[in-house]
Amino acid sequence: MTTAIEVRKVSQAFGAVGDPRRVIALEEASLDIPRGELLCLIGPSGCGKSTLLNCIAGLAKPSGGQVLVDGTVVRGPLPKKVAFVFQEAALFPWRTIFDNITLGLAFQGVAGSERNDRAKEALEAVKLDQFAHHYPRQLSGGMKQRAQLARALALQTDILLMDEPFAALDEQTRMVLGEDLSVLLARTGKTIVFVTHSLVEAVFLADRVAVFSARPGRIKTILNVDEPHPRRREFMTSDKLTRMRNDLYELLHDEVRRTMEMTSQVSV
Ligand SMILES: Nc1ncnc2c1ncn2[C@@H]1O[C@H](COP(=O)(O)OP(=O)(O)O)[C@@H](O)[C@H]1O
Ligand SMILES: [Mg+2]
Repeated sequence: MTTAIEVRKVSQAFGAVGDPRRVIALEEASLDIPRGELLCLIGPSGCGKSTLLNCIAGLAKPSGGQVLVDGTVVRGPLPKKVAFVFQEAALFPWRTIFDNITLGLAFQGVAGSERNDRAKEALEAVKLDQFAHHYPRQLSGGMKQRAQLARALALQTDILLMDEPFAALDEQTRMVLGEDLSVLLARTGKTIVFVTHSLVEAVFLADRVAVFSARPGRIKTILNVDEPHPRRREFMTSDKLTRMRNDLYELLHDEVRRTMEMTSQVSV
């Protein structure tokens, strides 16, 4: 299996050296992500997960190290290779769901008729075809996140980066979306990096879970979840998942405490 994404000693600092507000968000994080893998990133709040995702997406330039996508150093966004799904549905409110999707494709230079075909297909994949001509405000939170996913899928990139895409949703909705995502992924074979703060979601979805340490973020451990996709509901309720979730909690617990102690020191 070839490597889709290589993260090589990536560091990211915000603020000038000597500035008391300077934050080292990431310190020499390294990671190889094989093609077709779903990798979850989990770690305490503020440990650099979004920062790493932004570096992979080419939305931010690391202050040290480099990211390679398909063997080439990332120097800016790669819209033909990498699509991004954000935590909050970043849809244009004045455009229908269908038009939100075709707009993304227009930016990518896809011709008109193909734009329509791809938008239709992506909406069918997330089961939103009945809502193609609704506006975002007419959709529930879960439907908006599915619409965002459809927009990313329509771009037909090999790599999908998802930054806490279901975080704003209730637990039941996110579990069902997780099942659907696993089915979809098993079919498309995309490489996915998925940030979550839910232990259960991480184990349910991931082939591997990368556990971050408290800031400055480093990858502390990688956990393998040896379970084929698509993952089914039975896996959600299995002893295996519960055991792995508990292992993950053990790994994270001290890091979360350290983060809380760190934040209490800086607050006045
Ligand atoms: N543009 C920025 N300017 C200054 N500090 C930032 C910026 N982006 C992130 N940070 C800081 O870097 C750290 C890591 O942030 P982030 O990657 O968003 O964490 P996570 O996604 O794991 O919660 C945090 O302390 C955050 O405040
Ligand atoms: Mg984040």
